[in-house]
Amino acid sequence: MPAPRTEDIRAALATVNDPEIRKPITELGMVGSVDVSDDGQVQVTVLLTVSGCPLKSTLTRDTTAAVSKVPGVTGVDVQLGVMSDEQRAELRRNLRGGTAEREIPFAKPGSLTRVYAVASGKGGVGKSSVTVNLAAALAERGLRVGVVDADVYGFSVPRMLGVEHRPTQVDDMILPPVAHDVKVISIGMFVPGNQPVVWRGPMLHRALQQFLADVFWGDLDVLLLDLPPGTGDIAISVAQLIPGAEILVVTTPQQAAAEVAERAGSIALQTHQRLVGVIENMSWLELPDGTRQEIFGSGGGRAVADSLTRAVGAEVPLLGQIPLDTRLREGGDQGMPVVLGEPDSAAGAALRGIARGLATRARGLAGRSLGLTPAGR
Ligand SMILES: Nc1ncnc2c1ncn2[C@@H]1O[C@H](COP(=O)(O)OP(=O)(O)OP(=O)(O)O)[C@@H](O)[C@H]1O
Ligand SMILES: [Mg+2]
Repeated sequence: MPAPRTEDIRAALATVNDPEIRKPITELGMVGSVDVSDDGQVQVTVLLTVSGCPLKSTLTRDTTAAVSKVPGVTGVDVQLGVMSDEQRAELRRNLRGGTAEREIPFAKPGSLTRVYAVASGKGGVGKSSVTVNLAAALAERGLRVGVVDADVYGFSVPRMLGVEHRPTQVDDMILPPVAHDVKVISIGMFVPGNQPVVWRGPMLHRALQQFLADVFWGDLDVLLLDLPPGTGDIAISVAQLIPGAEILVVTTPQQAAAEVAERAGSIALQTHQRLVGVIENMSWLELPDGTRQEIFGSGGGRAVADSLTRAVGAEVPLLGQIPLDTRLREGGDQGMPVVLGEPDSAAGAALRGIARGLATRARGLAGRSLGLTPAGR
């Protein structure tokens, strides 16, 4: 067998993606030297963005696997190096694709990313669970998905998605960890241990701006924002930072919860954001005999949808009802969203149904306040 050619090795390396940036290492300037000896031994130097890169072993493994497949290769030795300052600067320029630093890509007029802010009036209604499951389900459908845990007081998204390591920082650019094909950033990743965060409005605004501008998201089809409960500062900041963000309202069937959810939804009227629809969570518990027990009452989701429809003067649909399901909670605790771990469970199926609707919906004017006042007679 003849010794493999260097260009074949380079072609194989072009199939290896950086696990965080998710682009071929060859395009990112991460391949240093490639040496092929006559007996088919290959030595490759891979340049890490930063020396403490948490994904070293993944990169080594993927590189070895890709190069081993080239006919004639008898052994692979992957050496890890670190990029120089100039190489890193070049990488940042390359990734930003000419965009100025500190610009929020999703706020630019031509942005094709759909941004969904998941809001609720009350806490504990399942916003974070809905966010991570929709994210995982959309990613499974082949969409490029990112999640921002904008709930600085309650950050739970990383655990629910099973993200263990912190983001890698390349100077002032932050590379978000990826779990279940979803890019995830949470304030929790920047706080040592489990310390509570005490932040006021302007700091929240700044943190959110940073998440949106300094994180390398790449081209996303969908960005989901898990908002804190209520009608607070963050909702207003989202509206200012990404005017095109659309709102998903989560409520339980309970009447009291529905009323507060409605208030959260009507914020969208003031900020001229579009309401995508309402998701009712914890709708019922299916008993072993197949009957449904409505633990939190019924009708909340429908009531919020109808009331918001009247308020904006355009249809705000009830996108789905998610039953109570212990597997949903367990999936959250284990970092394996129920839509992936138990896709056919009642909650998994309901969430996948909602994701399907979101993935296929077209942009339009439905649900957007037109800002018109009816003419007097
Ligand atoms: N349909 C469901 N079936 C069973 N458990 C659920 C369901 N939805 C949510 N839970 C559980 O309820 C708890 C609260 O859910 P979650 O954290 O998603 O709510 P949240 O609205 O994000 O809360 P917070 O306001 O604190 O951010 C979690 O333990 C979650 O696992
Ligand atoms: Mg939450």
